[in-house]
Amino acid sequence: MKENIAKLIENCKKEIEQSDASAKLRDVKVKYLGKSGELTAILRGMKDVAPEDRPAIGVFVNEARNLLEAEFDKAEKILSKKELNQRLEKEFIDISLDKFDPAALGGLHPITKIQNEVLDLFINLGFEVLEGPEIETDYYNFQALNIPSDHPARDMQDTFYITQNILLRTHTSPNQVRTMECKKPPIKMLCPGRVYRSDSDASHTPIFHQVEGLVVDEGITLSDLKGTLEYLAKNIFDKKTQVRLRPSYFPFTEPSVEVDLTCSNCGGKGCNVCKGTGWVEILGAGMVHPFVLENCGIDSRKYSAYAFGVGMERMAMIKYGIPDIRLCYENDIRFLKQFKD
Ligand code: DAH
Repeated sequence: MKENIAKLIENCKKEIEQSDASAKLRDVKVKYLGKSGELTAILRGMKDVAPEDRPAIGVFVNEARNLLEAEFDKAEKILSKKELNQRLEKEFIDISLDKFDPAALGGLHPITKIQNEVLDLFINLGFEVLEGPEIETDYYNFQALNIPSDHPARDMQDTFYITQNILLRTHTSPNQVRTMECKKPPIKMLCPGRVYRSDSDASHTPIFHQVEGLVVDEGITLSDLKGTLEYLAKNIFDKKTQVRLRPSYFPFTEPSVEVDLTCSNCGGKGCNVCKGTGWVEILGAGMVHPFVLENCGIDSRKYSAYAFGVGMERMAMIKYGIPDIRLCYENDIRFLKQFKD
């Protein structure tokens, strides 16, 4: 019997050695040490052993069992470590960036770019930048600007109403009033912001961006306005850009002007951008109406003011040659990439 056990130990050790996976090792363990395993079978055969030999054989079998169990433990540890390492290697995820790719970085949106340029130019002239609410009252958006509720000028601005008295501002001009209400002249302010109109085609979107300018002081004239706009145009477009004021009408300015620039695409010769005229319309402006000044508590006999409102989309379209305003809002990466510095 001892020989049988010795042989069994030898065979079992060999099979342990040959096991190259935990699952295989488990099977081997069941084969030798399991309930119907080979060593267990030998133990069952003890009844055939002479009673006087039983204790010695019993000790021998137990020693064999302990020895094999230790062998299994050792092999199990080695195999599970090996398998864990294999798994770690297979499931490895490289979370480090292998190289820095500046081309993959985002850039500023063309509207943001042009707005920053405009703001910087005016900050250089000593203007302060103020912002106002996008949800406005009828009073600030219209009435205080000399546009009473039955005024036909309201038709020029297709308004999104929230209630009868609350609306999405249709222009940044309400901030002229808000500024003059709480500041004393001299005032030099610029107000950038989103504005809203129910309008949509190749040159209109329901949301767009304006920058409002306002200067209030003693002796401010239309030629101050023209000089400032020339400074703006020459710096944003081309040093040779000319500015032309055309008579127009806005209820909040008197006189009112529409401002044209020589077309930056053809230099004023006439092309499809300027529809052959050599000029492109860029903004509305004028001398602030005395009614508006008085409404804000400013003495219109002592002070005069100029104001202008310019669309950022319009400027960007002219400067960058963007044919359709809607491109600015489609978030197409191929379009946006072109404006990256
Ligand atoms: N608020 C006008 C618009 O959106 C533009 C405008 C015209 C603003 C004349 C002004 C101005 O400040 O003086 O159509």
